[in-house]
Amino acid sequence: MTDSTSPPIAKQLYIETVGCQMNVLDSEMVVAALRKQGYSVTKDPMSADAILFNTCSVREHAEEKAYNNLLRLKQWKLANPDRVIGVMGCMAQKDQEKVFDRVPFVDLVVGPGQLHRIPELIENAKQGDRHQLAVSLSRRDGSADEIKRSHETYDPLRDPEMRPTPFQAYLRIQIGCDKFCTYCIVPMTRGPEQGRSPERIVEEAKILAAQGAKEITLLGQTVNSYRWVDGEKTTRLADLLEMLHPIEGLERIKFVTNYPKDMTRGLLETVRDLPKCMPYLHVPAQSGCDAILKRMKRGYSVADYYEMMDRISEILPGAAVSSDFIVGFCGETEEQFQETVDMVKRCRFKNSFIFQYSVRPGTKGAELLEDDIPEETKHRRNLDLLEVQNQISLEDNLKFLGTTVPILVEGPSKWSVRKGQTGELRQMTGRTPCDRIVVWDGNMRQTGEILPVRITDAYAFTMLGKVETNEVVGAHSTESVPELVPLLRP
Ligand code: SAH
Ligand code: SF4
Ligand code: F3S
Repeated sequence: MTDSTSPPIAKQLYIETVGCQMNVLDSEMVVAALRKQGYSVTKDPMSADAILFNTCSVREHAEEKAYNNLLRLKQWKLANPDRVIGVMGCMAQKDQEKVFDRVPFVDLVVGPGQLHRIPELIENAKQGDRHQLAVSLSRRDGSADEIKRSHETYDPLRDPEMRPTPFQAYLRIQIGCDKFCTYCIVPMTRGPEQGRSPERIVEEAKILAAQGAKEITLLGQTVNSYRWVDGEKTTRLADLLEMLHPIEGLERIKFVTNYPKDMTRGLLETVRDLPKCMPYLHVPAQSGCDAILKRMKRGYSVADYYEMMDRISEILPGAAVSSDFIVGFCGETEEQFQETVDMVKRCRFKNSFIFQYSVRPGTKGAELLEDDIPEETKHRRNLDLLEVQNQISLEDNLKFLGTTVPILVEGPSKWSVRKGQTGELRQMTGRTPCDRIVVWDGNMRQTGEILPVRITDAYAFTMLGKVETNEVVGAHSTESVPELVPLLRP
């Protein structure tokens, strides 16, 4: 990045977000808070006077990229030391002082449990105190209660202007995680699992719906393990769905990420009985081999997972299930990897996010297990599994040919954005109830609507369609084969 010679425009914020939906939501909240302090958001880091990186620690690669991007800002920072650079999110919580060691010109390091302090910390930095550290207690540094309290959920009142699509919103129902899968850093960066109170959640959902949110996605690391105990009464995810369903204006409810063991019959029946609950479930399996699942400490067997899949097919026939897999986990043999391939073939996931194992210092995996699978093997298994999954995604998408599906229109497609399409007529994108991506030659006015779209062609990641309407809405794109839209994931 090159530096600009002109002074920064007052109070411009540039924020870069990587990681999961939790981070996307956190960034939304921080931006809303800073807007109240007079900041506006810029897409150009060079014209900003504050830059925030919202970081992810789930794999080493994401961290290294964040450090490299930060180091590139040295000239920008030195050109005007009044500028503020902050690192927030999971890497801030995990690395703490180490962030300052590696990037000495960083002004603030703020863990995900301390985000409410960002406006104050930026002010402190501007006043000259350029070493602002705000992190939560680590999992061994206090009583259970103290640790919980140091991981505060950051969900102030919502600012609809901050969402890329005002008709879609994330709503946090749970923070942290207590599952301690041996490969995973999240229980360390996000702290103990804590549900938010049903009253707060419903209140927030009502606000979101009144602001125009048609689709709400409930967020939690193991969202279907949600529980809130109040005296005698325990509220679970199914109860929450019942409470949210009547909210006027709300048309689609989704929830991610699910933990296989907690995908109960009761929850599935609730999803079946409530029409606003979408027939889409993201339930990461991680591996199709019992020995590996045990080493990962996932708490279920392959048979348990298959039982869950049968339960889903029985109660929600036609529902789409997606998964995450880690390939090349410690000691994974070729045969054990093949068991994962077999699982993907048997379960026919809508899509799978496939990751190569990355050792995370601070996890049990890093402490006790040897990362003994060569990088080339991990890479090859990743490609092999992806190929199997893509073939399934393509076959199952092709089954939609000729059908008409209700699509929530999200806006111009990535292809349209990249091609620099302007004006009303653009290639548009949206999702089916089961979360499949559809693109068509459409009109910007369709954004935020739920429209009937007839499927005319299909690829592994994207289906092509045509809006079923009497109105002439089509923009004729000059290229006939659209972009295969990549799925968003950390
Ligand atoms: N809470 C979610 C997942 C959070 S992390 C769940 O339990 O499903 C998102 C995904 O990243 C995980 O599902 C896993 O597939 C992957 N992941 C986590 N730690 C990893 C590691 N150390 N190396 C590679 N992939 C990892
Ligand atoms: Fe990580 Fe496992 Fe918790 Fe998911 S359930 S966040 S993979 S520890
Ligand atoms: Fe999410 Fe990455 Fe943190 S996946 S919870 S941002 S480590």
